[in-house]
Amino acid sequence: MKLTVVGGGSTYTPELVDGFARLRDTLPITELVLVDPAADRLELVGGLARRIFARQGHPGTVTVTGDLAAGAAGADAVLLQLRVGGQAARQRDETWPLECGCVGQETTGAGGLAKALRTVPVVLDIAERVRRAAPDAWIIDFTNPVGIVTRALLGAGHRAVGLCNVAIGFQRKFAALLGTDPAEVHLDHVGLNHLTWERAVRLGGPDGPDVLPRLLAEHGGAIAADLRLPRPLLDRLGVVPSYYLRYFYAHDEVVAEQRTGPSRAEEVARMERELLAMYGDPALDEKPELLARRGGAFYSEAAVGLAAALLGGGGPRVQVVNTYNRGTLPFLPDDAVIETQAAVDGSGAVPLAVPALEPLYAGLVARVTAYEELALDAALRGGRDRVFRALLAHPLVGQYAYAETLTDLLLAHNREHLAWA
Ligand code: G6P
Ligand code: MN
Repeated sequence: MKLTVVGGGSTYTPELVDGFARLRDTLPITELVLVDPAADRLELVGGLARRIFARQGHPGTVTVTGDLAAGAAGADAVLLQLRVGGQAARQRDETWPLECGCVGQETTGAGGLAKALRTVPVVLDIAERVRRAAPDAWIIDFTNPVGIVTRALLGAGHRAVGLCNVAIGFQRKFAALLGTDPAEVHLDHVGLNHLTWERAVRLGGPDGPDVLPRLLAEHGGAIAADLRLPRPLLDRLGVVPSYYLRYFYAHDEVVAEQRTGPSRAEEVARMERELLAMYGDPALDEKPELLARRGGAFYSEAAVGLAAALLGGGGPRVQVVNTYNRGTLPFLPDDAVIETQAAVDGSGAVPLAVPALEPLYAGLVARVTAYEELALDAALRGGRDRVFRALLAHPLVGQYAYAETLTDLLLAHNREHLAWA
């Protein structure tokens, strides 16, 4: 099995490689190819990847290349994990929205729109070249904003599934709190990428007893503290929102913090310098502890599970992924991309039926879906007015005066990445 990682020079890659090495019985990779335009990073990350495989006795090869077509040729699966403009562009996404009192975040709100506009054309170009080099390959998209990018890929007819680590993170956390095996924990996880709620936590199988009320009663304090939301809010809702909902439910609080504290991009840039220095040490042959301070915990395990389901030829596996709605949430278009439990096999992902979404969540999901549709339109066709419309539709912007100013700021800060601007 050949697996290609586009954006393989990412400092995150050792997390992925560690998962591939540990879970090689689930996903027997024979050839791992890391593709990246940054030759210096690729050399450091590729060296460590080889040492991780060697230490864990993995028989597969690791090669690195700057040539996408060569790297993807004949691949069974291609994982996309890139960040157009790197942490420097992220830093801007996290700052200019604050000028209007709006949250500065790389996947949510106006910053998320900037990221979508920069990213969609690049990912579509990569996917096209992958299709020529490996027509049957599955594309697993980790590239943010995952919902919009996945919708773009599916709209262009690619064999693609979008993936995020939020659901697997909750699954592992709840399993630890309950003292049980993560495989026993089934989430009723529903919404859009980075806009989800855990409405039930079932033990033993999708029809098992719901232990979420017990979890909240016994561990609500710890769960709320992790999300940095007040515990009474969780108790009142009776569900667990993802930590991205804090940007909605505590928007002004976050803005106040962001105005004084360092940005996440600055923190991550500092960590990346440290990580790359470590990766250059020939004695290092495992993922360093420092990597756990990044947001990507368990993303390798989610990727292994998904790739195994898509390529394994066994029965379908149930996993949380991003794919077409197809009537699952009846108030959304069929071609909206939602994030929910799906049955995944060699023919792709099909969402499982979910209980009707309560108005409290459905309202937000509908508005953000409309925003995502307009954001994709702006990313594909360009134009100041399309950017403005997407911002006007976004529940965290909404007012025309903010949308005007934020459109100008977005364009001013992203011209080098937008062919049409
Ligand atoms: C989580 C999200 C990812 C996001 C990451 C950011 O894992 O699911 O989509 O990219 O956090 O982590 P970072 O360490 O870069 O802030
Ligand atoms: Mn994510």
